[in-house]
Amino acid sequence: MKKILVFDTTLRDGEQSPGVALNVHEKLEIARQLARLNVDIIEAGFPIASPGDAEAVKAVAREIKGPAICALARAKEKDIEVAWESIRYAETPIIHTFIATSDIHLKHKLRLSREQALEQAVWAVKKAKSFTPYVEFSAEDATRSSWEYLAQVYSAVIEAGATTINIPDTVGYITPLEMKELIEYLLKNVKGIEKTTISVHCHNDLGLAVANSLLAIQGGATQVECTINGIGERAGNAALEEIVMALHVRGEFFQAQTDINYQEIYRTSRLVSQLTGMLVQPNKAVVGDNAFAHESGIHQDGVLKERLTYEIMDARLIGRQEKVLVLGKHSGRHAFAKKLEELGYHLSEEELNKAFARFKQLADQKKHITEADLETIVSEEITKQ
Ligand code: KIV
Ligand code: ZN
Repeated sequence: MKKILVFDTTLRDGEQSPGVALNVHEKLEIARQLARLNVDIIEAGFPIASPGDAEAVKAVAREIKGPAICALARAKEKDIEVAWESIRYAETPIIHTFIATSDIHLKHKLRLSREQALEQAVWAVKKAKSFTPYVEFSAEDATRSSWEYLAQVYSAVIEAGATTINIPDTVGYITPLEMKELIEYLLKNVKGIEKTTISVHCHNDLGLAVANSLLAIQGGATQVECTINGIGERAGNAALEEIVMALHVRGEFFQAQTDINYQEIYRTSRLVSQLTGMLVQPNKAVVGDNAFAHESGIHQDGVLKERLTYEIMDARLIGRQEKVLVLGKHSGRHAFAKKLEELGYHLSEEELNKAFARFKQLADQKKHITEADLETIVSEEITKQ
């Protein structure tokens, strides 16, 4: 099994979600939880962005042991210096420097030629390398850049000392098979690539961030950049929990694994949601409220007999409660009886039939049947006799 490094950017790209701003204490709280989750790298922030962010990155770098701590910097002197000041006390400090490489960005945003951008990228990596042995370089908007030019840029930054090259799908534009092909192309055409970590950073504008990350791994990527609950700019980043569990559940297919401590996944999701104020959609894979909830009678009957009938992962593995049976209009007698038993009711066949009929009538009118509803139904059916 190939080991995939998990680079968590919840505190940097995740914090770039509209409306999210974490203070030092909140960042530290999340960073401690990310360390328990056992991510390999924590991108703690973008220190040049604000004095508060620089302070938060510093606090994370000083306290958190285990994961490497990374700070983002544009390919500019001041950015790189401030990034270094923020992470210098980390056990393993990484400077992550970036410059755009697509013609759209070069022409309209940076007003640089390809040659000038390449020169600046090399200069930035050398500057970062003068501070720390661990330097990541990202070619922003890589997936809309010329592949030939990308290969040239990555070869040059590796020669300048980059230890990780990151391929961001900045605007969530690429599709999974193209991503795999791009990584394979870079593996063949970038000089020195065999001695670097090959990272991908996928955004979710077309809902493909996780699929693109997984196909990148199949193509040869050895690091994924992701966020808890998939939060991030616009439609967000690839969701850490989804990538990690896909690799876990389908390990034999991907032949790749992470070192994530699965038990901490759910707790981390709850904490990030609470501190960022970004709610998790109920049907979100792995961590959504409904991710392990079964409503239909057929499914409920199945999981009560054998969990594997309708569940591909064990909720307890990621720190959640076992099977959640939600009673609604699709639920069957079996689940209904089971729930009553949990509430302490042991009804005769006849009582159960009557109570079940009442339950179905109510479920047609009400989406969520609560325990109080069940108690009312049962006590009324029983006292009627
Ligand atoms: O999406 C992106 O391109 C980024 C880079 C800074 C890596 O977040
Ligand atoms: Zn990003």
